[in-house]
Amino acid sequence: MFTVEKANEYLYENRIKCYDKEWRPGYHLAPPIGWMNDPNGLIHFKGEYHVFYQLYPYSSEWGPTHWGHFKSKDLISWELLPVALAPDRSYETHCYSGSAVNNNGIMTLIYTAHHETESPKEIQCIATSNDGIYFTKHLQPVISVHPEDGSEEFRDPKVWMHEGIWYMIVGTCKGNSGKAVLYSSKNLIDWDYKGVIAESGIFGDMWECIDLFKLGDKYVMTFSPMNPVSLEFKKSIFLIGSFNYDLAEFKIESHHEIDYGNDFYAANSFEDEKGRRILIGWMNMWRTKMPTQERGWAGALTIPRTLKLSRDNTVLSEPVEELKLLRENHHTIDFDEVQDNKKGYLKAVKGKYLELMVEFDSQNSDSERFGVIVRASIDCREFTEIYYSRATAEVVIDMKKSGVGECGIAKTVLKLEENENVSFHIFVDASSLEVFCNNGKCVLSNRIYPKEDSVITDLFSVGGNTCLISFDAWNLKTEDYFINSYNHL
Ligand code: FRU
Repeated sequence: MFTVEKANEYLYENRIKCYDKEWRPGYHLAPPIGWMNDPNGLIHFKGEYHVFYQLYPYSSEWGPTHWGHFKSKDLISWELLPVALAPDRSYETHCYSGSAVNNNGIMTLIYTAHHETESPKEIQCIATSNDGIYFTKHLQPVISVHPEDGSEEFRDPKVWMHEGIWYMIVGTCKGNSGKAVLYSSKNLIDWDYKGVIAESGIFGDMWECIDLFKLGDKYVMTFSPMNPVSLEFKKSIFLIGSFNYDLAEFKIESHHEIDYGNDFYAANSFEDEKGRRILIGWMNMWRTKMPTQERGWAGALTIPRTLKLSRDNTVLSEPVEELKLLRENHHTIDFDEVQDNKKGYLKAVKGKYLELMVEFDSQNSDSERFGVIVRASIDCREFTEIYYSRATAEVVIDMKKSGVGECGIAKTVLKLEENENVSFHIFVDASSLEVFCNNGKCVLSNRIYPKEDSVITDLFSVGGNTCLISFDAWNLKTEDYFINSYNHL
């Protein structure tokens, strides 16, 4: 039998056990011990940011999911809080993903109770808290059966308020088509079914972790598809279009991936008290190798990103500005060209906790490709390349030599307007790499597992020289939130 108390005791007793100096993130959220997947219940509540997540404390493999919990005043310094939910009811073997709302000062979590062997397999439940730390589950599920339009796959409720009414969007499927279904409620307890607001088999036969929000003058739906027909849609998708509450209809106008890296799934977002739409994803992917599992932990979340609509109605993702608070030791350079096959440009920029901002003038260069090397070893056997290929107009992250694991390659096309430069905004953490290109036109998030002392950074150009427009880098501060903040457990 799982309980919140048992989970907290276990986390406390084992708190030092999985201290992994080599791969433990310095400024990303990761589980104190055990397994982490989706971010859940993202909310800015009474001036503090809360991040819950799918947690299985007792093993570094996925298991009966609990809701782990962190909070922060600034999205930078995180405090570890007690586990919020454990699968302790007869109708649940897991507390699956969901969301959080502020209901007149009461933090309310809405989640899917999943039962492995009984039917109904997935129902929607709530839990409430006055202090945003300790939660009491409501005695009855609030939606105890899936709609006719859907099936037993019926999960990951996202709830928000619009003009005084609560709305809930849930992912389901029927036949080979993933669907988003909508409910409304006056009190978060009694829910009316409004219908299917979007569906499509092209984007997968089940839509997980759906979210819906207004961005600029469009509506954006995000979800993570299962079994999409094309690998183009394999992780998480932005659907951009219009939404009509009265007709319960979302019209898709365009779509693109949220993140083109290999380690990104189950993204979720919230609006903070400053009015920003902030998105966080799970920085891993199902069925991939996670070398940290041997060290007692697995999973991390991406840095928070702010979303904006571009002039051509695509969604731009940029790191939240609070990340600047982590900066120390500013590095810059005094040359404006990276020469063909030369090395040793960034001798002073070393580390495994780094931020780099580099801008190249691709159009006035004659190279085939150019970019940045991070996490390189002295003998050059280990390294990770981030580059732009002028031949294919692609951003490529080559992780074939990044270290342990099968990190491979991640890439996407980056179309340049006339006179547009190529810029990389790179965040390196102990076992991760996030690359934001051209002010958020595309992002690629990846996990890499280099050796502790692979800390060399460089610039490179191949097949000709490349003009460099600007370069800034910082070492980033790190915090042992998972060691230091057990006082609440
Ligand atoms: C997405 C997901 C969700 C589910 C959770 C279970 O990664 O499969 O649909 O709620 O993970 O941990």
